[in-house]
Amino acid sequence: MKKGILIFVFALTPQMLIGQNCLSPNKQSEVIFSLTNEGAPNYQMLHKGQTVIAQSHMGFELVDALPLLQNFRVLDVRFDTKDEIWKPVWGEEKTIRNHYNEMLIALEQQDKNRKMNIRFRVYDEGIGFRYEFPVQDQLGHFIIAQERTGFAMTGDHIAHWIPGDYDTQEYDYTTSRISEIESLFDVVLTGNASQEQFSKTGVQTALMLKTDNGFYINIHEAALIDYPAMHLNLDPKTLIFESWLTPDAIGNMAYMVTPHNTPWRTVIVSDDARNILASRITYNLNEPCAITDTSWIKPMKYMGVWWEMITGKSSWSYTNDVRAVKLGETDFSKVSTNKTHAANNTNVKRYIDFAAKHGFDGILVEGWNEGWEDWFGHSKDYVFDFVTPYPDFDVETLNGYAKSKGVELIMHHETSSSVRNYERHMDKAYKFMRDNGYNAVKSGYVGDIIPRGEHHYSQFIVNHYNYAVKKAADYKIMVNAHEAVRPTGIARTYPNLVANESARGTEFQAFGGSKPNHTTILPFTRLVGGPMDYTPGVFEMDISKLNPNNNSHVNTTLANQLGLYVIMYSPLQMAADLPEHYERFMDAFQFIKDVGVDWEKSVYLEAEPGEYITIARKEKGSSNWFVGNSNGYNKRKAIVDCSFLDDKKTYMATIYRDHKSADFKTNPQAYVIETKTITRKTVLKITTVAAGGFGISIVPKN
Ligand code: NOJ
Ligand code: CA
Repeated sequence: MKKGILIFVFALTPQMLIGQNCLSPNKQSEVIFSLTNEGAPNYQMLHKGQTVIAQSHMGFELVDALPLLQNFRVLDVRFDTKDEIWKPVWGEEKTIRNHYNEMLIALEQQDKNRKMNIRFRVYDEGIGFRYEFPVQDQLGHFIIAQERTGFAMTGDHIAHWIPGDYDTQEYDYTTSRISEIESLFDVVLTGNASQEQFSKTGVQTALMLKTDNGFYINIHEAALIDYPAMHLNLDPKTLIFESWLTPDAIGNMAYMVTPHNTPWRTVIVSDDARNILASRITYNLNEPCAITDTSWIKPMKYMGVWWEMITGKSSWSYTNDVRAVKLGETDFSKVSTNKTHAANNTNVKRYIDFAAKHGFDGILVEGWNEGWEDWFGHSKDYVFDFVTPYPDFDVETLNGYAKSKGVELIMHHETSSSVRNYERHMDKAYKFMRDNGYNAVKSGYVGDIIPRGEHHYSQFIVNHYNYAVKKAADYKIMVNAHEAVRPTGIARTYPNLVANESARGTEFQAFGGSKPNHTTILPFTRLVGGPMDYTPGVFEMDISKLNPNNNSHVNTTLANQLGLYVIMYSPLQMAADLPEHYERFMDAFQFIKDVGVDWEKSVYLEAEPGEYITIARKEKGSSNWFVGNSNGYNKRKAIVDCSFLDDKKTYMATIYRDHKSADFKTNPQAYVIETKTITRKTVLKITTVAAGGFGISIVPKN
C-alpha cells in the first residue's frame, strides 16, 4: 500500500527524483526526501503544515575513501505501515502503541555503485530515520570520519542545552536562544572537559527546543548500538545543527562492517509540551524484548549506604593507607583503618533494619570491596576485582540478614572506567552476585576511560555498556549504570537495564548544588531515552550538617523532593537520605513509602520545560493514583484536574505541599500535609514556591 504521494517527479530517470514524501497515520507529521541536482540526499520535516526541520543534508565523510554525500540515485522507494501494541516489562504505562508509516529510500552512488538506504518512520508526534548499509561488494569495511546529518532550524529557537562534552552529561542545563550558545559555551563548560577536544558550539542530545510560535521540538537518537553517541554541532550563522559523533582515541568515529545500520535520529514535535513527555518514539524505534523470561526483572524502591559518602560524612575506602595496595599488602589487619568507612557490618545492618521496617525492597552498599584506597591514590588500570570485600563487610552474613528481613542487597561495581579490567572480571563478578543472592548491580564509570584516549561515548565503550547489560541478562541481573552513555530506549530490548544516571543527579546537590529548575528540564531531555536513577528524597538540605567541611545546599524544598518520585520516572527509585533524617519527618516520609514504582498509566497534566511539570500516574495492579509536581524559579499555582480518576469512585487524597513560608534556600522543610475527599470532578489548586513542588497520594475510599 502506498502511503506517500510523489510530489515532484521530473520523472524520466530515477536520479531525477527530487521529492518523495511520507505522512504520519493522522497526517499531522510529514517527511519529505529529496535529491539535489548533485545527487545529495536531503530531508525535511513538517508538523501541522509548518516546517520543523528545513531542508537538511544527509550522509557521511569516510576515512581514506570518497564520501557518501552526493552522486546518489534512487534505486527504489518502498512504503510500509505498522500498528502494534506491545507490553513493556515496566514503564509509565502498561501498553505502548507503535503506529507509524515507513518510507525506505534505496540509494546507490552512480560512480561507485555503493549502496546506502535511508529508512524513515513517521509518527503522529515525530519522525525517526536511520542509514542502513546492506551487504555489498563495494562496501564491506569502512570507517566513518564524520556523519553529516543536518537539522536545519527554522528560527532562533529557545534551547535547553548542555555542552557537547565526550565524557560527561553531568551539567546544569542552560536555557538560551540557539544563537547564544556559542557565547555561553565557555561559561557553561566545567569538569575535566578539554576544550580543544570538541566543538565550541556542540550540544548534547536530547536537545529540547521551543519555537516562538509555540512548537516544542526534541532531537535525540534511538537504539544506539555499535556506533558512537551523537552530539549536535551548531553553525551559528545558518542555525543548522549537524551530527557530531564521539571520536575514538585516534579520531575515527565509527568502524562499520556491512550489514550495519546507524541508530535512529529522532525529532519529536508538538504544540503542547505534555506530548513530548508522553511520546514513546524512542522506545518504539528499538527492537522488541530479547529476553524470554523476564520474571526476574522487578521494579524496586531502595535505600543505600551512599549519601553519607557523597556528602563526605563517610568514606568508601576502608583504609587511607594507599601504600597497602601499592605494596601488594593484602592483609588489612596491617594497615590503618579508616574510622569513617560506612560499609561496615553494623552500619549496613542499621540500614537493613530501617528499610525492612518501612517496606523498601533493597539496600545499595557502596565501598564494600577492596580497591578504593588504590583508586583514589593512583588511578591505576587495575583497581577493582569486584569480588573481594573489605574485612568489615561480611557478604554472606549481611545477605542472609537482609533476606531474613525481606530486603535484598544491591551490588556496586565502580569500574573506575577501566573497562577492559571490568570485562575481564565480569563473569566472575556476576557469578559472585548470583552465588550470594544479589539481583541488581549499580555500575559506575568515574574518571577517564582506560584504554587511554577513548571517551565515555565512543563506539568502543558504547559496545562495552551494551555488552555488560547483555551479560548481566545471562546471569539474570538488573543493571543501573552511572556515567554510561545516555540511554536511547534500549531498555525495550533489554529491560534488565532498569536505570542509568547519565545526567546531573541528586549527588550534585552535595557537590555545590544544582539549578532550582533542573528537574523541570530533565524529563524533556535525559529521560526521553529511558529512566534515570536520579536518587531523590533528600530531606536535610543543609549538607554542612552531615559534613562541616561541605557547605553545599540542596536547592529544592522538601515537598519538591516528594514530587520527584512521580516526575522523574524510574522503575528503580531510591530514598537517598539517611535513616536519621527520615526519622525527623516521618509524616512526609510516608509519601515515599506509599508511592508506586510501576505504572498502569500516566497522565501529563501540566508541563513547560524549565518552568513546571505535573504528572498523575496510576499504580500497576492497584486503584491508587499518585500525582507529582516539580516547580521552577517562579512561585505558581498548579491546577490538578482530577478527571483522570475513575467515574464511580470517591477517593481520599493526601496532599504533601509547600507551606506558604517555604523557601528552598532559607526554609526548605516547611511543608503541609492535608487530606481531602475528591472525585473526578475535583480540580485542586496548589501553590508551589520556587524549586518547590508537591506529591499527592490518592486512594479509593472503602
Ligand atoms: C558516581 C556515581 O554517580 C555515584 O552514585 C557513586 O556513588 C560514585 N560515582 C562512586 O562510584
Ligand atoms: Ca555520577
